[in-house]
Amino acid sequence: MRTIAVVSGKGGAGKTTTALNLAAAFQRFGRESVVVDAHLRSPHIGILLGAANLPITLHDVLANGRSIFEAVYQHPSGVRFVPAALSGAASLSQLRQALQPLEGKAEKVILDTGYDEHTAAVLAASDEILVVTNPDLASVTGALQIIKEAEEHATVLGVVVNRTGSPYDMSKVNIEAMLEYPVLVEIPEHQDFRMAMHERAPLAALRSTGAIAAKYHALAELLI
Ligand SMILES: Nc1ncnc2c1ncn2[C@@H]1O[C@H](COP(=O)(O)OP(=O)(O)OP(=O)(O)O)[C@@H](O)[C@H]1O
Ligand SMILES: [Mg+2]
Repeated sequence: MRTIAVVSGKGGAGKTTTALNLAAAFQRFGRESVVVDAHLRSPHIGILLGAANLPITLHDVLANGRSIFEAVYQHPSGVRFVPAALSGAASLSQLRQALQPLEGKAEKVILDTGYDEHTAAVLAASDEILVVTNPDLASVTGALQIIKEAEEHATVLGVVVNRTGSPYDMSKVNIEAMLEYPVLVEIPEHQDFRMAMHERAPLAALRSTGAIAAKYHALAELLI
């Protein structure tokens, strides 16, 4: 089992979108994965998968002694996920131990994250780090900051450049030069992500033969 944290140095870069679509891509290859909502301040995984109010969440695992298995749910696409509670405090300092029972049951645990006071604990619970950035200087600068922090804890796998397609984008070459990690995939700005949110499903599961799904499949293949 490998735990992959999806991180960015700036809010709204596309971490949750990446985590969900990567899980759908692993699912497509028959690889067992679980997406865990470790963005406790702004948990979106349950909402985006059409299940906003589930009885047992990551909070109950971390704070109330429930087993992680009680908090794993399955979306109709097959994507398995652990939601976080929309309110209530919890510490992520025991996250790695909380996830340990998934060993042998999941090949990949994908952590959706925020960039906040929980970041250090999430990084410490991770084996691998996937960095999401937008192709602009502010976002890439933020990515550089979190990469420096992440390198102390885990293996940085590379970079997902999300929302590409503007003539003013930073180039892949420049992003790689600045971050010193490879760009694994570039995901274009596309209105279908809004459609997928409306349908409460990962885009790569809804349009599994489309061009964007193919990009997430290619990303998953690099990470398998
Ligand atoms: N490639 C894209 N094209 C169009 N819209 C996108 C794309 N990627 C993400 N979005 C949209 O941008 C918004 C932010 O994306 P997302 O929630 O994945 O970011 P995040 O990094 O998880 O944000 P937060 O820091 O708040 O957790 C969402 O509405 C999402 O649907
Ligand atoms: Mg998010």
